[in-house]
Amino acid sequence: MPATRFMTLQRHILEGEKRHPEATGELSALLSDLSLAAKIISLEVNKAGLVDILGFTGENNIHGENVKKLDMFAHDMLTRAMDHGGHLCVMASEEEEEIIHIPKKHQIGKYVLIFDPLDGSSNIDVNISIGTIFSIYHRVTAQGTPGTLRDCLQKGLKQVAAGYIVYGSSTILVYTAGEGVHGFTLDPAFGEFLLSYEDMKIPEKAKIYSLNEGNYKYWHPGLKKYIKYVQDADNRGREPYSARYVGSMVADIHRNLIYGGIFIYPADKRNPKGKLRLMYECNPMAFIIEQAGGRAIDGNKRILEINPESLHQRVPIYIGSKDAVDKVEEFLRAEEVIPEMRI
Ligand code: AHG
Ligand code: MN
Ligand code: MN
Repeated sequence: MPATRFMTLQRHILEGEKRHPEATGELSALLSDLSLAAKIISLEVNKAGLVDILGFTGENNIHGENVKKLDMFAHDMLTRAMDHGGHLCVMASEEEEEIIHIPKKHQIGKYVLIFDPLDGSSNIDVNISIGTIFSIYHRVTAQGTPGTLRDCLQKGLKQVAAGYIVYGSSTILVYTAGEGVHGFTLDPAFGEFLLSYEDMKIPEKAKIYSLNEGNYKYWHPGLKKYIKYVQDADNRGREPYSARYVGSMVADIHRNLIYGGIFIYPADKRNPKGKLRLMYECNPMAFIIEQAGGRAIDGNKRILEINPESLHQRVPIYIGSKDAVDKVEEFLRAEEVIPEMRI
C-alpha cells in the first residue's frame, strides 16, 4: 500500500497531535528525538562492515550474552539523544540492568522510554536485518520528580506509543500512537523518514510461520501439532504456510505484518518462560500488531494484559495475523501442558 502523499515523519506526528487539542507537542518532540537517534544508528549499521566495530567487546550483558560493539553504540546513542529533551523522567534498556535516570541537570518530563537498542544482534556480522524497538508510557509517579521503576513496570495496555526501526535493504521506522500503524522509509540522500505505509493492516490470514524449529524437541505438544498443521494442506483449499525465520524479531515481525504471518517464540522445556523480553520486545510489538488488526498472546493471555514483575522478564509470544493466533491458541488449549512449562 504505497503512499501517494509526500509526508515526512515529523509532519505526520504533528498532524496527529493537531487532532488532539489537549496535546502539548511533547510526544511529537520525543518521537522526533528518537528518529534522530535512529538515523545515526542506521548510518553506523551501514558502516559496520567497513569500520572496526564488529566483534565482541569482551563483556557480557546482564543476561550473560556477548555484547557486540554495535549494541553498545545503539544503547549509548539512544540514551544520549533522549536524556536531555525534557520529555522523559526515566528510561530502561535491554543493555542496562537498572533503570536509567535522567541526569539532575536536565529537565524531568512526563514520559517513560523503554528500548531494545539493537535487536537481532547475532545477525550484525553477517549483514542480515536488525532493528531497534521502543515503548513509551506516561509516568505514574508525581510530575517533576525523578522517575522510578514503578513508572517502567506498567502493563503494555498503558503504552502511549511504540515502534521499531528495521535496518534492512532500506531503513524503515514503524510506529503507533494508538491511532493505527504507520511506516516511514529513510531517504538516505537527505536523511528524512518519508511515509511509505499508511495505516498498515496485517492480513487476517497468515501465509508464513516464523519460529526457531531447531527447538522442536523441547516444544509443547500442542505447538508441535500446530506446526504440523500449518505445514499441511487440506481438501478445502488450505495451502501449507511458508517457513521464514530471520532470527531478528523486528525483521520477522515486519515481514509478517506486510505479508500476513505468525511469529512464535514459545516457552519450552529448556526455557519455561520463553526467551523474549516483555517490556522492550513483546509489549511494543504486541501494541503495533494489535493496532494493525492482529493478535499477540503468551499462550494463555493477551501480552498487553500481563502485569510486569521486573524490567527484564521474559514471556512466551505468539503474535501475528488474527486467524493464525486464534488457531495456535486452540492447539495449545487442546493439549495437556507440560508442568515445567506452565506459565
Ligand atoms: P537481541 O539481539 O536483542 O538479544 O534479540 C534477539 C532475539 C530476537 O530478535 C530473535 O527473534 C531471537 O532472539 C532469536 O532467537 P534464537 O536465536 O533462539 O532463534
Ligand atoms: Mn531483542
Ligand atoms: Mn538487543
